[in-house]
Amino acid sequence: MPEIPTPDAANAVEVQNPYVSATAGPKRVRTRHFQNAKQQGIPITGLTSYDMMTARIFDQAGIDFLLVGDSAGNNVFGYETTLPVTVDELIPLTRAVARAVTRALVVADMPFGSYETGPSDALRTAVRFMKEAQAHAVKLEGGVRSRKQISRIVSAGIPVMAHIGFTPQSEHGLGGHMIQGRGAGADQLIADALAVQDAGAFAVVLEMVPSAVAAEVTERLEIPTIGVGAGPGVDGQLMVWTDFAGMTEGRVPRFVRQYANMRSVLTDAVRAFKDDVDTGAYPGPEHSYE
Ligand code: KIV
Repeated sequence: MPEIPTPDAANAVEVQNPYVSATAGPKRVRTRHFQNAKQQGIPITGLTSYDMMTARIFDQAGIDFLLVGDSAGNNVFGYETTLPVTVDELIPLTRAVARAVTRALVVADMPFGSYETGPSDALRTAVRFMKEAQAHAVKLEGGVRSRKQISRIVSAGIPVMAHIGFTPQSEHGLGGHMIQGRGAGADQLIADALAVQDAGAFAVVLEMVPSAVAAEVTERLEIPTIGVGAGPGVDGQLMVWTDFAGMTEGRVPRFVRQYANMRSVLTDAVRAFKDDVDTGAYPGPEHSYE
């Protein structure tokens, strides 16, 4: 990954990848930049974000898109799965993320129950995310089964990122967190990928799919593929920020590379603060007013 660009001229870093350069790249990432990136073989990066602080950090670090994922159901609201989270719960988070960024494309995840009932409901939900939260695009799960919803949303001028392979909102139907697209499942995955492309999606997330199948889908599609546990042969990579930064408690999926251990950093800081208060070491005179 190239160096981190920053909008602060004094700290500006020269980078090779035009899509992550605050000076040479797009001022604001648009869906057409995704297409250009695929054509030019430039990897696209995405992280989830659910709040202003992380959104600003990720945006300034040059991440191309931020997904306000329904994984907020687990990571913000503490539900066991993504299924219970609602549009009303995700809208304020999306608004905070959209307000924080100057460059990254903000994608709002449409939660379970907000689009499956038909194209009109899907469009209504997408409009809410664009209007009330100022998202730049929406994401929804499903291939062939969601093509009518995608097509209706796209015809209203709203960009759609599709999501196929393992789709967490269907975890009960799929029988748990299972790799998708193995064996005969590869044909279904390819059919799903072609269906969302034909319906007008500007990109498609491939989650927990064998690398060779993901590479084949990437080869066959004109739109970029974004992998979450789909190996290296895709056009971009997306990670749930709490997983990649080591905030998540317990096991994380095999495809996660942990880039930091924020959980232990925060735990140490909290313990030190508590010790200092307990022993009277904080606040000192330098923290007190005359
Ligand atoms: O909500 C989310 O975080 C997601 C990603 C795992 C793709 O949908």
